[in-house]
Amino acid sequence: MESLIQPRVHNIQLSGIRQFVNEMAAFPKAVSLTLGQPDFDTPAHIKEAAKKAIDQNVTTYSPNPGYPHVREAAAEYVNKKYNLHYSQDEVIITVGASEAIDVSLRTILESGDEVIIPAPVYPGYEPVITLCGAKAVYADTTTTGFKLTVHHLEELWSEKTKCVILPYPSNPTGAVLLKKELEQLVQFLENKKVFVLADEIYSELTYDAVHCSIASFKGMKEKTILINGLSKSHSMTGWRIGFLYAQSNILKHILKVHQYNVTCANTIAQEAAFEALTEGAMDAFPMKKEYDKRRNYVLSRLQNMGIEAQVPGGAFYIFANIKPFGMSSLAFCRGLLQEQEVAVIPGSAFGEEGEGYIRLSFAAHMDLLNIAMDRLQQFIDKITVS
Ligand SMILES: Cc1ncc(COP(=O)(O)O)c(C=O)c1O
Repeated sequence: MESLIQPRVHNIQLSGIRQFVNEMAAFPKAVSLTLGQPDFDTPAHIKEAAKKAIDQNVTTYSPNPGYPHVREAAAEYVNKKYNLHYSQDEVIITVGASEAIDVSLRTILESGDEVIIPAPVYPGYEPVITLCGAKAVYADTTTTGFKLTVHHLEELWSEKTKCVILPYPSNPTGAVLLKKELEQLVQFLENKKVFVLADEIYSELTYDAVHCSIASFKGMKEKTILINGLSKSHSMTGWRIGFLYAQSNILKHILKVHQYNVTCANTIAQEAAFEALTEGAMDAFPMKKEYDKRRNYVLSRLQNMGIEAQVPGGAFYIFANIKPFGMSSLAFCRGLLQEQEVAVIPGSAFGEEGEGYIRLSFAAHMDLLNIAMDRLQQFIDKITVS
């Protein structure tokens, strides 16, 4: 029967992140700096709101795009924080940012279309693009501070370009695009008939500059599909709540795909999201303060080991350069796991441009980071001697 599976699905691989995490199963005591999972609990007031929703029998379907009051709150939230201008009718509450990515791409792409993506990159986009019969066209950002530039766009542009993905702050590199850098992209994009898929799921976690959304630039709202959510900012990965913002003439088409896909997002989680959006606008701040301390700690430890890493302006990852050790990123990560029981993700999981790097997540307690850095130091000492 397997031969009847459609070839595009057949050819999709399990993400390199998952593959490596599966390898970790043989090392149950390993210190893991692998997943994009905040190590904080969901704030108590949000959990209370969900309990209340259950007691009040908020257990039926909601309207397909989500409850109006939650959509209103989701619009207000980004409008206030990032100087945007969305109304309630321009929001869909989705099943995490993941579903928002899926329904956006499936709404806009057809066979033969091309999507420009800065790489190394989160591996969640390409499989959806491939399933649509479209093609991911990667911009190698390893020499531009992991930032997409106009130069990349000029080089990779074709008449088939249907969409540009802007995933900033970036997983896995932590790179952010500053206002002046976005301005240059906007100048190039403003006259092009193209969608911009802005995945800003890490927007609340920026350390050195406030987040700037591409949708806030004049003329960009109409071509931008903006994605955000609560997974990272409010440590709500398991609640599966994301937000998709687009102008109504685009949103109404995305809504059809969303409707036939999931009907609506979980209603109890929607009420929890309402609480997060209205009463928890500052919830990310204490977490961010802690991440910032850890970021500086890991960076200084890496520096002492002679490992070069760009300072991440956002998210909670450090993408460290291991090229001087002359090993593939997978061999390096396997060695570190097997010899020192520390797990980090090989850069190759984020595309071929990620080869020669490792991704360390600092969404882990300081004590664990301390142990992991000591062990990494021992591993480095060993491979540089032998
Ligand atoms: C860049 C990026 N986009 C989207 C997602 C998916 O987010 P969610 O858990 O809300 O589906 C992730 C999760 O790691 C991510 O790193």
